[in-house]
Amino acid sequence: MSPEIRVLASSQEVFELAAEEFVRQTNDAVSKRGRFTVALSGGSTPKALYQLLVERYAAKLPWAQIFFFWGDERHVPPDHPDSNYRMAKEALLSKVPVPTEKVFRIPTEEKDAVRAAASYEQTLRKFFKLKPGEFPRFDLILLGMGPDGHTASLFPHTDALQEKTRLVVANWIEKFQAYRLTLTLPVINNSACVMFLVTGSDKAAALREVLASDSPADQFPAKLVQPLNGKVIWAVDRTAAASLPPTSIQRIEPIRNK
Ligand code: 6PG
Repeated sequence: MSPEIRVLASSQEVFELAAEEFVRQTNDAVSKRGRFTVALSGGSTPKALYQLLVERYAAKLPWAQIFFFWGDERHVPPDHPDSNYRMAKEALLSKVPVPTEKVFRIPTEEKDAVRAAASYEQTLRKFFKLKPGEFPRFDLILLGMGPDGHTASLFPHTDALQEKTRLVVANWIEKFQAYRLTLTLPVINNSACVMFLVTGSDKAAALREVLASDSPADQFPAKLVQPLNGKVIWAVDRTAAASLPPTSIQRIEPIRNK
């Protein structure tokens, strides 16, 4: 299934589209299956989406039927300023009625990153009731993309890109001299939907490499996100899309009524 590339006039409109998609997918999943499983993205971009869900959509979401996971995490304590969990908790989870037992953060208080990854993998295996060799199928995985084309904590030329069997790995990132914990590509590519939120001119070059070039995928890991049986939505603003050839864009959204 080819990716759906939605170009919005502004970052605010990216967040509005993403929020509407989140609400639609959540209510659809809950009505059909009684639950919605989502892996949240980290970094700074999604914070505005989380805040919008609180400010504008809180009453439209069945919070008690949503199960929250993370696509990746820095190897820092959950109350650390760099923690993706802390950002989501402050922007979203502390402001809506999500039962704590439905929030599955990555246990980064575990000093050994490999053990933390293995522990989260067991959490996923138990929650999704996986048999050996099976991968979880999230309803939605939210992703961002770095200026180098990384996504989650799948950085260029890192070991995690080659992982074919594990669900979660501790990925050593040389430039940070630190581990990052990340879902692996088999998990991401087993998702029913992946939605990328990409804004800002600093992402334009990488977005072109990922969406409109035949550059090596391990140089721009977001290229490797190709769900076998799922949808990919790229919600990007015009500045991030500035280097995309027009032929690669299916929809440039009309200016949305406020
Ligand atoms: C993280 C994210 C990472 C992020 C990109 C984009 O832990 O930082 O998972 O993949 O999505 O680096 O980050 P920004 O949204 O801050 O540009």
